[in-house]
Amino acid sequence: MVDLYRFIRPLLFRLSPETAATVSLRALQYGLGGLLAGRYAQPPDAPILQQRLWGLDFANPVGLAAGCDKNARAPDALLRMGFGFVEIGTVTPRPQSGNPKPRLFRLDEDRAAINRMGFNSGGLDGVVARLARRRRAGVIGVNLGKNRDSAGATEDYEEGIRRTAPFADYLVVNISSPNTPGLRDLQARASLEALLPRLLGIRNSTKYATPLLLKIAPDLTSAECRDIAEVALTTGIDGLIVSNTTITRPPGLRSRYATETGGLSGQPLFSASTTLVADMYRLTQGKLPLIGVGGVGSADEAYAKIRAGANLVQLYTALAFEGPALIDRIKTGLAELLVRDGFASVSEAVGSAHASASAGSAEARSSTGGGRVRLW
Ligand SMILES: Cc1cc2nc3c(=O)[nH]c(=O)nc-3n(C[C@H](O)[C@H](O)[C@H](O)COP(=O)(O)O)c2cc1C
Repeated sequence: MVDLYRFIRPLLFRLSPETAATVSLRALQYGLGGLLAGRYAQPPDAPILQQRLWGLDFANPVGLAAGCDKNARAPDALLRMGFGFVEIGTVTPRPQSGNPKPRLFRLDEDRAAINRMGFNSGGLDGVVARLARRRRAGVIGVNLGKNRDSAGATEDYEEGIRRTAPFADYLVVNISSPNTPGLRDLQARASLEALLPRLLGIRNSTKYATPLLLKIAPDLTSAECRDIAEVALTTGIDGLIVSNTTITRPPGLRSRYATETGGLSGQPLFSASTTLVADMYRLTQGKLPLIGVGGVGSADEAYAKIRAGANLVQLYTALAFEGPALIDRIKTGLAELLVRDGFASVSEAVGSAHASASAGSAEARSSTGGGRVRLW
């Protein structure tokens, strides 16, 4: 199968990154997804990739992360590209334009991006209208945010839940974007203890039992991670998305855009976000479904997130570099890795690095007297 994206990419990369993203999404919206993907019908996913979670059937565990289709313009075309699920948003209650441009930078040498979009959003009215028009098929998550000028974050999330619960398969409370002042402070224990019960109450008051997830940042201290795990378990939130972009700049970035303000995504985020998946899996004793996101660009990386404790993975930045053929490559490779390691299904592999690491560390301790074992 010819991968047409190889030919389209040089043209897209001549545009500003934000224009390239907009053009690609419009192409999908107007039915050119098959052309971009280089095929018109996706082969069915291998049964080993299937998973049932929150009462939802995922044909495969590879999803599209929030930020690509903020206004639900092309969720079904994105699903047809082969994703097992698509998360739209972040959507804010009222329309807002976000930060001044330029606000998205591609770090080609680092396979990364930095964005400070600042929740540019068409608002809930448009999103709800578009979601209401679609025929429900495939798993769609809706990622919810707050308006920059809102006095109360809680009310904004409440409105988002109330209005999108009828049309979403799962909902995400995004308190981890680095580009809305004060948003990440909501990750503090006291804020979460106040916020989450209220939001779960609103969710419960709708007649839809839509799963409610929390998306967290990769820049948390160990104490903050422990707090989030405890509050997540006690409040009964349905899962965690780990993680959003990082405000840190890992050493070794080569691009001239590395010092731009905003959240870093892509390859350089992989290690920290995967470590955080492992930490949250351990802190929640594997009781809470996790979606692992950050730097996934290959089957090995998707598999590492799953072995660290993620039930599902998401990606975004790698899609700009690799194009839609990446999705199939990851799924095929992931199925092969699962078979190679003797797993009958994705769910069996979730968190498996912990078991082998503790066996490994027992060995390591007996031979070397201790030390940290790398999980991936
Ligand atoms: C341009 C851009 C916009 C994004 N917008 C959002 C957003 O609106 N809401 C959100 O929760 N995450 C957003 N993200 C973060 C992604 O969902 C994801 O958590 C992050 O990019 C790490 O995954 P990746 O390395 O595969 O890109 C955005 C990322 C990028 C690159």
